[in-house]
Amino acid sequence: MLVAGFCGGLFWDATPAAISLGALGGGALGLTLWLFWDDWRASLLIDWLRRLQNAPDTPPPSRLSGVWRMTAERLLRLLRQQRQQEKRFSRRLDDIRDALHASPNGVIMLNGAGRIRWLNHSACRHFGLDETRDIAQTVTHLLRDPVFIAYYARRDFSRGITVDSPLATPGRPLRLTVRIYPYGKKSLLILSQDATAIERNEIMRRDFVANVSHELRTPLTVLSGFIETLQTLPIDEDERRDCLARMARHAGRMQNLIGDLLALSRLEASPPPDSGEWTPVRTLFSACAAEARALSAVAAKVSGAAQPHEIVFPSEAELDAEIAGSADELQSAFINLISNAVRYTPLGGRIEIRWTPTLEGGAAFVVQDSGPGIAPEHIPRLTERFYRVDSGRSSESGGTGLGLSIVKHALQRHDARLEIDSAPGAGARFAAIFPAKRIRPI
Ligand SMILES: Nc1ncnc2c1ncn2[C@@H]1O[C@H](COP(=O)(O)OP(=O)(O)OP(=O)(O)O)[C@@H](O)[C@H]1O
Ligand SMILES: [Mg+2]
Repeated sequence: MLVAGFCGGLFWDATPAAISLGALGGGALGLTLWLFWDDWRASLLIDWLRRLQNAPDTPPPSRLSGVWRMTAERLLRLLRQQRQQEKRFSRRLDDIRDALHASPNGVIMLNGAGRIRWLNHSACRHFGLDETRDIAQTVTHLLRDPVFIAYYARRDFSRGITVDSPLATPGRPLRLTVRIYPYGKKSLLILSQDATAIERNEIMRRDFVANVSHELRTPLTVLSGFIETLQTLPIDEDERRDCLARMARHAGRMQNLIGDLLALSRLEASPPPDSGEWTPVRTLFSACAAEARALSAVAAKVSGAAQPHEIVFPSEAELDAEIAGSADELQSAFINLISNAVRYTPLGGRIEIRWTPTLEGGAAFVVQDSGPGIAPEHIPRLTERFYRVDSGRSSESGGTGLGLSIVKHALQRHDARLEIDSAPGAGARFAAIFPAKRIRPI
């Protein structure tokens, strides 16, 4: 451009002063033209940058050249890098958010003013909140439990609290442990955990210990009473024999209780029975038959009754099947059901044991008795530990109330279920129902 100006000067005038003036003028013209051209390129760049906002992949205009093109390409590279980084961050954030949503614990994030910034699905389930509606709401307007309000106001978050969920009903209790953790400048994190099962287990554990102590205390008190009698009182031979017989009965009760407790804990602690071990049903039934007759004979002898129970077993031909699982556990479950029938059916009554195929292709072990039957309100609770319909009568006959919980446990371990049908005065029917996969013909 300077060269063009200089040439212009040459033709315009010939004197040196005129030449330099001409060169200057030409240079100024060239510079102006260059500035216009540069400005035009800058406007191309700005226009392209504007278009980039809506269409991030728009390439730089082909008319852009020189340092402006290099700037545009550099900018494009930087923008691409930034976009990739943003994508990575947003993927990571989504990941963290999804993980927090998957957590069984409730998470609520509060800003410094105590307003909800974010909350996960479990927090909504725990407190009956809504993930979109409740954002930016003041937390104490939504969580109204007085224990929580006091905890929040106290600002001492060194330990947590336990509250009832607002969604809890008598039929569906929901206890929550809640703890607040301060973070950042003034933000707070509320964590909640469903403690219903933990509390229920704790109550069960306490009840269990209380029940065991109670069951052991009764025979122990009686035993120590008799020991004192024997030690201190002058008693004759008949009284001594009577004393010892009673002591033996109570010691037996304690033995039964400990035996049942051990059986229960073995069932709970041991691995599931091997489903590849098959036992002929006939073998189990013959052991059951011997036990049932022996139990009934003892009951008849103790009470001085003329006849034991009428006990009916299926014929051998009806038992041509095998059952998969632990023979010991199955035997113990079957004998428990039979011994209940013998224990609670008056002597002379009828007890029938059957083995019947089920519609689903499995089979059922059924014990039907003609005893006093059970009122409907007791039936759902019979398999609870230590539950007895008539605790006086049951413990008198040596019962600890653990038999049916052992049965239920043993059956569950064999994918089987216990069905109880009974009504007062109509006898009782206990059926252990096995699925098809546990039964095969011989
Ligand atoms: N065939 C039955 N007829 C009537 N009541 C029964 C029968 N079987 C069980 N029950 C009732 O169910 C209760 C629970 O039975 P479960 O076998 O668990 O305990 P238990 O017989 O009292 O003691 P054990 O631990 O010695 O078996 C019994 O106390 C009894 O009241
Ligand atoms: Mg029993």
